[in-house]
Amino acid sequence: MWSLRSSLTALLASTSTVLAQNSTYLNPVLPGWHSDPSCTQVDGTFYCVTSTFIAFPGLAIYASKDLIDYKHISHAWNRESQLPGYSYATKGQQEGMYAATIRYHEGVFYVICEYLGAGQLAGVLFKSTDPYDDASWSDPVRFEAPKIDPDLFWDDDGKFYVATQGVILQEMNIETGEMGPVTSLWNGTGGVWPEGPHIFKRDGWYYLMIAEGGTSWDHAVTMARAKTVTGPYEPSPHNPHMTNRGTQEYFQTVGHADLFQDTEGAWWSVALATRVGPYGSNYPMGRETVLTPVTWNEGEWPVFQPVRGNMTGWPLPARSRDIPGDGPFNSDPDVYDFEEGSAIPRNLMYWRVPRDGAVEVTGEGLQLSLGRNNVAGSPGGSEPAAKAISFIGRRQTDSTFDFSVDLTFAPNAPEQEAGITAFLTQAANIQLGIIQKEDQLSFRFNATGKNTTTPLPAEWSGETIRLHIETPSPNQYAFSASLTAENSTKIAVGNGTGVELSGGTGSFVGTLIGVYATCNGAGSGLDCPEDAPKAYFNRWRYTGRSQYITAQDSVPSAQFNKAV
Ligand SMILES: *[C@@H]1O[C@H](CO)[C@@H](O)[C@H](O)[C@H]1NC(C)=O
Ligand SMILES: *[C@@H]1O[C@H](CO)[C@@H](O)[C@H](O)[C@H]1NC(C)=O
Ligand SMILES: *[C@@H]1O[C@H](CO)[C@@H](O)[C@H](O)[C@H]1NC(C)=O
Ligand SMILES: *[C@@H]1O[C@H](CO)[C@@H](O)[C@H](O)[C@H]1NC(C)=O
Ligand SMILES: *[C@@H]1O[C@H](CO)[C@@H](O)[C@H](O)[C@H]1NC(C)=O
Ligand SMILES: *[C@@H]1O[C@H](CO)[C@@H](O)[C@H](O)[C@H]1NC(C)=O
Ligand SMILES: *[C@@H]1O[C@H](CO)[C@@H](O)[C@H](O)[C@H]1NC(C)=O
Repeated sequence: MWSLRSSLTALLASTSTVLAQNSTYLNPVLPGWHSDPSCTQVDGTFYCVTSTFIAFPGLAIYASKDLIDYKHISHAWNRESQLPGYSYATKGQQEGMYAATIRYHEGVFYVICEYLGAGQLAGVLFKSTDPYDDASWSDPVRFEAPKIDPDLFWDDDGKFYVATQGVILQEMNIETGEMGPVTSLWNGTGGVWPEGPHIFKRDGWYYLMIAEGGTSWDHAVTMARAKTVTGPYEPSPHNPHMTNRGTQEYFQTVGHADLFQDTEGAWWSVALATRVGPYGSNYPMGRETVLTPVTWNEGEWPVFQPVRGNMTGWPLPARSRDIPGDGPFNSDPDVYDFEEGSAIPRNLMYWRVPRDGAVEVTGEGLQLSLGRNNVAGSPGGSEPAAKAISFIGRRQTDSTFDFSVDLTFAPNAPEQEAGITAFLTQAANIQLGIIQKEDQLSFRFNATGKNTTTPLPAEWSGETIRLHIETPSPNQYAFSASLTAENSTKIAVGNGTGVELSGGTGSFVGTLIGVYATCNGAGSGLDCPEDAPKAYFNRWRYTGRSQYITAQDSVPSAQFNKAV
């Protein structure tokens, strides 16, 4: 009896030791618009890239030591001269840089992608030996592939292969971009859009992992394997390997996965997911990046843990923010005061390449020149003239958040306007601006079905005005204004919803929170009248309030995945 109890105690002790070693963390690990993630581990640092479509700079590169905190270290596409004219030629709101793959080979980082929207599909392969430096990303090697979502795979014989949507395979000359003949590898298990392929060689097998079912409710990860890279591929008996389709889960659309190992040899997968289930319609952040542990025993198929908000799995690498470079961590608040001579913070993005001088940091703060087009793109519509929008914003990275910024603006003609916006696309956004109406300064609020113009209090004339977005709940965007004095009375100007920032014209992208300035069509060509004043923004603050991990349960952002 005594010995039975002591061995039971020993057993319990050893079990709890094992349990203690496994980690607990919360998804999404890269909150906010971060679709189509691809990651690779090099010397204990994980490097990831996510899709950015029409936004610029594009192809955000993140580095993480612990798979939880991700520092925004560079953008592979960061100069107009890397793809001259492409951005301005792109009309669609969801064209641009599609799903990329990041890999490391013999001292060089490679990001391969395809650009849609500037005529024919343009294959681009960026290289860098120092991904902490924008300037080190090369001009792209250009290649012609018939489909999107290129993978990068080096075989043991030194040959380099690109698999794309379909799923098809081509050998590639990595220096010239010359492509070999097309081989059809696998058409998936019958879901629409077999795409997002990645090839891994392991235990004498070529494993092909793809996404299918479309990047929405039916999205799934499926696999096949072969003894030679060109096939024939046999489908896995365990398909789909990972999906949340047909479930009541909050995290839906799970798919478009990548696989990598940590330095202990444990396998992990990143994938995209949308916090929208079950059957919701409010998902302003679009597709975000989730992490899941994978068990991949020798000769066997990998087993993915299903994606949830609250995860347990392999021990994570030790928490560390000791990463070089000068970008912010994705989950950190913004505290930007735009000191003269400072760079534009790396997490702020434009909608297409900005015109010269559109946005600059000056002695008076973040200076926006008025764009002839308003945020909606008028008068240029979807024509290339729509490039003349003056806008900059950061991803909404929390289910609820507070944003505020101080605006100093002295219009000298009617219809000149500057303000803040929750922006999904040029056709789906909520705006609060200060606008000159005849001889009167007014608030203009524009949300779906609501378009109001109300005069500013007379005593606010000539003052710096603090503009606010607060989100009492994930579906409520409350826009207000105050003076900058502490405790100054806030005027509630208008309410928008998350639903109007979800799907529709922006189902591939996610909401950005930022500022704009426009003369609403005055002037000619791309230019506002020469004497139009600038708008100055200061004291930019974005603070996450909460992260939802199920449809009902949220965690304060300040505690979300924070090291203890
Ligand atoms: C995939 O489908 C296409 C079109 O039907 C066909 O030509 C191709 O042979 C198929 N590929 C495989 C590997 O079965
Ligand atoms: C996540 O689950 C663990 C148990 O595995 C629990 O201790 C923890 O409180 C949960 N976290 C949240 C935020 O619900
Ligand atoms: C630890 O996590 C791995 C990966 O998810 C899992 O296979 C294993 O069962 C877990 N161990 C325990 C004791 O929970
Ligand atoms: C108001 O927003 C809608 C789209 O939400 C847009 O069509 C319209 O042009 C906007 N008005 C202005 C003045 O920007
Ligand atoms: C919104 O109001 C502005 C005037 O401030 C007007 O020019 C514009 O046409 C209105 N837009 C809609 C969609 O009603
Ligand atoms: C602002 O309000 C807070 C809380 O009500 C108060 O403690 C503080 O003294 C006020 N500040 C000013 C400048 O009135
Ligand atoms: C916005 O909604 C809140 C209630 O959630 C309400 O108190 C406020 O008056 C609304 N603001 C406007 C401008 O309609």
